[in-house]
Amino acid sequence: MEPLLTVRELEKFYGKNGALSKALDGMNMTIEAGEFVGVMGPSGSGKTTLLNCLATIERATAGSITLNERELTTLKPKELEIFRRDQLGFIFQEFNLIETLTAYENIALALTIQGERVDKIEKKIAQLANQLEITSILTKFPHELSGGQKQRVAAARAVITNPALILADEPTGALDSKSAQKLLQTLTQLNQQLAATILMVTHDPVSASYANRIIFIKDGKVFNEIHRGDQTRSEFFQRIIALSAVLGGSYA
Ligand SMILES: Nc1ncnc2c1ncn2[C@@H]1O[C@H](COP(=O)(O)OP(=O)(O)OP(=O)(O)O)[C@@H](O)[C@H]1O
Ligand SMILES: [Mg+2]
Repeated sequence: MEPLLTVRELEKFYGKNGALSKALDGMNMTIEAGEFVGVMGPSGSGKTTLLNCLATIERATAGSITLNERELTTLKPKELEIFRRDQLGFIFQEFNLIETLTAYENIALALTIQGERVDKIEKKIAQLANQLEITSILTKFPHELSGGQKQRVAAARAVITNPALILADEPTGALDSKSAQKLLQTLTQLNQQLAATILMVTHDPVSASYANRIIFIKDGKVFNEIHRGDQTRSEFFQRIIALSAVLGGSYA
């Protein structure tokens, strides 16, 4: 079977001739359906640029990205809109919840846009809210929620449409350690129970240790990768720390 996601010789250059900055410089990777992959690398190594290219928010300069055997780099604007809506889930650091909608309405929005029936929407949200322990806060507005609660609502919103791929950029960056742990457990749960495929950028070795595989990038290329295999999370954490030290650079 083809991998869910294939990235081939991806390049993203910013600026012109003299002041060319190569954010992605021949990046290659494949992700299988059902994987939970962490992406780590020094500041400026191209992590966010990679995620933005996968999210089709940015256009690559060269190279290919296929998701479910579909080439993304040549999609037209209208196709991109539909592709993002139906195939991707986003969990970004800034939550991006709509302030004038309740938690429930925020989660329901994508399904409503897809034309899902109201009774089906209710059923889906009830089930997911129960799993993520947000049932009691569904009627609240974002400003009435804690950071961790907002992040879990954002996670629910990202997966409610059952996207092929969930993209997360530093999803725990704005959270205290307890809320961060809860969100990481949520992502693990989505991965294990709903078979969600997750690609998470993080500079935090603890967050990364929740993934099953870590891809290390440096200077816009894949530098190394490690698989968790049968290791416990803390064993995997130790390996991540060791490899981060070898890679060097600032991870903040
Ligand atoms: N819009 C832009 N215009 C010009 N250069 C950019 C732009 N966005 C990113 N870059 C450059 O591309 C490189 C990769 O940036 P990117 O944001 O992908 O790094 P990152 O790995 O996410 O870093 P961090 O860990 O600090 O978030 C950097 O050298 C950055 O300066
Ligand atoms: Mg970044």
